Amino acid sequence: MIQRPRGTRDFTQAEMERRRFVENSLRKTVESFGYREVTTPVFEHSELFTLKSGTEIAEQLYIFKDKSDRELCLRPELTAPVARFYISDLKALPKPLKVYYFGNCFRYERPQKGRFREFWQFGVELIGSGTAECEAELIALAMTALKNLNLKKFKLRVGHLGILKSILEEISIPELNRSELMKLIDKADFENVERALTELKIEPTKISKIMQLIKVKGDFSILDKLKLMIAGNEKTLNTLNEFREILGYLRDFGITDITVDLGIARGLDYYTGIVFEIDVEELGAEKQVCGGGSYSLIETFGGPKTETTGFAFGFDRVVMALETQAGKLLDAAEHKLEVYIIPLGEKSQKKAFEISMTLRAKGMRTDIDLKRRGLEKNLKYANSINAEKAIILGDRELDQNIVQVRDMATGTQTAVKLDDLIGFFTNK
Ligand code: HAM
Repeated sequence: MIQRPRGTRDFTQAEMERRRFVENSLRKTVESFGYREVTTPVFEHSELFTLKSGTEIAEQLYIFKDKSDRELCLRPELTAPVARFYISDLKALPKPLKVYYFGNCFRYERPQKGRFREFWQFGVELIGSGTAECEAELIALAMTALKNLNLKKFKLRVGHLGILKSILEEISIPELNRSELMKLIDKADFENVERALTELKIEPTKISKIMQLIKVKGDFSILDKLKLMIAGNEKTLNTLNEFREILGYLRDFGITDITVDLGIARGLDYYTGIVFEIDVEELGAEKQVCGGGSYSLIETFGGPKTETTGFAFGFDRVVMALETQAGKLLDAAEHKLEVYIIPLGEKSQKKAFEISMTLRAKGMRTDIDLKRRGLEKNLKYANSINAEKAIILGDRELDQNIVQVRDMATGTQTAVKLDDLIGFFTNK
């Protein structure tokens, strides 16, 4: 037997119904905020992801050569593709431009609970505005989407890379080391951050300042403490004021339960300003269901300077979070068959096909015997697939323009005139 590749999954019909239920709710919420959907290819030129996404992502890429020796790769995320698409086709559209996407992504990671090699992201990008209210609205959208799904407990942490980066700039760490450092900060591996800074021969007072800063975590009031910590550095103080303004707007949008966390560094290199993550504790090690922030990518790809912010939900983790918290599978409506048609003769078969097509055109989930089974076996089959009703057509009854409609749950049968049949099902 050929196995499916490691880190990938198959989804059953019932699983797909539950996933679609979540997807539809997310679509409804983002559309209620004025976003419209875009789609980009599943594979791209690999440089799209190696230019600016960061070393971690580059190591995880599924890279391959096509028959013309082009180096391509499966997309690990959708922000870079959307930025590319924006430059080629969307940049003339009115701003701010609000787009969303839902698609599979591929990362060569060590699979574990909540971490896959093929996973789905549902994300949004807000292009062409960098006001505090625009960034606040975007975060409010992520929170609202989870609330609308009835997710009970989830935690928002918000940080600002501008603050962290300007402090790191002050001590002039080379780009490569900075990227390594950000990775360690992102993992909250404080011990190794300190070790790395010491190895880089940074002054001890500066190391202690950085260590203090990346450990800043608390509610809104912690901003005052932060202000004292960065006193004297005008540029960083201005960034802090911007940060404060965004958080203020976030409260206006009704999001009050916020943890300020300056230790958020994000795994991707393109972020520049506000960054945020949403966690669901019950998921354990892979608890982050959403990540995003403001970033600079469009310029990197040769486009005009454009302010951009976005986020992506780890769709699989959102589904897992909902089911873990509820302690049961989601109650998505099972797509049961509404009508199963059983013809019992040659003449009835012709009529049965005609009826099946009319009911299908009316949107009824309809199926028909395709195995030429007798009545008993057909009823057994209809039962096993949970059909709600069966239509039984016998040649002799058909001569009298009558069919039997059987309620599969109760077993009651009703004779229905052929002329009334469609109405019987559709005028309920
Ligand atoms: P990211 O944090 O790398 O950000 O991924 C977003 C979300 O995808 C994560 O929070 C996580 O829930 C989910 N995720 C990531 N890797 C896996 C995996 N191997 N298996 C399951 N789920 C996973 C981005 O990708 C950015 N493009 C988000 C963004 C949009 N920033 C601005 N705009």
